[in-house]
Amino acid sequence: MDIIKGSLVNQKQVKMHIKEIIQAGGLVVFPTETVYGIGADATNEKAVQKIFIAKGRPSDNPLIVHLAHPKDLEMIVYDIPEVAKPLMKAYWPGPLTLIFWKKEIIPKSVSGGLDTVGVRIPDSKIARTIIEAAGVPICAPSANVSGRPSSTLFEHVLEDFMGKVDLIIDGGMTDIGIESTVLDVTTPIPVLLRPGAITQSMIEKTINMGIIDATETPVHDVPKSPGMKYTHYAPQGDIHLIEGEKENVIEYINKEIKKYPEHQIGVIAPDEYIKSIDAHYKVALGSLLKPEEMGRNLFLALRQMDQLKIKIIMIPALPKEELGQAIMNRLYKAAGQKIIKID
Ligand code: TXA
Ligand code: MG
Repeated sequence: MDIIKGSLVNQKQVKMHIKEIIQAGGLVVFPTETVYGIGADATNEKAVQKIFIAKGRPSDNPLIVHLAHPKDLEMIVYDIPEVAKPLMKAYWPGPLTLIFWKKEIIPKSVSGGLDTVGVRIPDSKIARTIIEAAGVPICAPSANVSGRPSSTLFEHVLEDFMGKVDLIIDGGMTDIGIESTVLDVTTPIPVLLRPGAITQSMIEKTINMGIIDATETPVHDVPKSPGMKYTHYAPQGDIHLIEGEKENVIEYINKEIKKYPEHQIGVIAPDEYIKSIDAHYKVALGSLLKPEEMGRNLFLALRQMDQLKIKIIMIPALPKEELGQAIMNRLYKAAGQKIIKID
């Protein structure tokens, strides 16, 4: 297994190396602006299988296909609905995945058996250079073992995939820290399947119409996006997500802390809460006034709780506006869809 610094991907021999690995059906982990991805040739059935095995991912959970240029889109999808065009113009390259009807060139193993395919063009220069060098569309789910928090640091990738892939590109910490927004544009009214940094209101403003929010479809309904039905982002400890007035939440958490030995309980909270929390282990997520900071630190905070072998992780619920919707979506899943409401 090779490790190469992200700053070197522009070198000719590095690009050749990437091309050789991908075209031989190998796996390359690389940073994007959202999280790290584990990539393979999306047109090579055998290579795609390797991703599912490396991640331990259920085979009905489809992979996102990554392109370097919008012009490559028609190679893999049937038609580009009108509603998708302003979105592509506004947010590509960037953290928006659009679901289209797929062409045969993308095997069904990529799309989890569906006739559709999720596509995005990452904003990360390193990621685009890699895709371009590979010379084929790259399917890449987040680079984490299935069920674990996504990787936002090179070190997390090593934790999960050391020796299990052909090449890892070390690009340091990813910028956004939360996976791309997933939007289905195969229906007349687009359907939001996963919230992300491109928020619902940004999408609605761009296309000048309302969209359907399916991100909180209960698990027992038929999920639109297969990924919704699996537990995600879960650290090894139990997450207690607490909703209520700030002072009450702090009081509740401080009471709970006393019930456990200090090395068993940890708290992850916005800066505005953290000083008043009496826990031995606590992680400040970032300011409530800077949701993008909280987004960037979220998975790192969850993984640190694992490093400490924390059993109970207390986290105040956050406001669900804008990027907060994406952050709460991940936390809610990590908490096993439970919220503790206090007044
Ligand atoms: O930011 C991201 O999107 C990262 C980076 C690496 O690009 N990738 C990522 O992939 O998060 P993954 O596989 O962890 O999540 C893909 C999500 C899943 O929830 C999956 O169910 C959904 O997108 N998805 C993919 N293709 C789909 C399709 N054809 N129809 C419905 N949902 C789809
Ligand atoms: Mg994932």
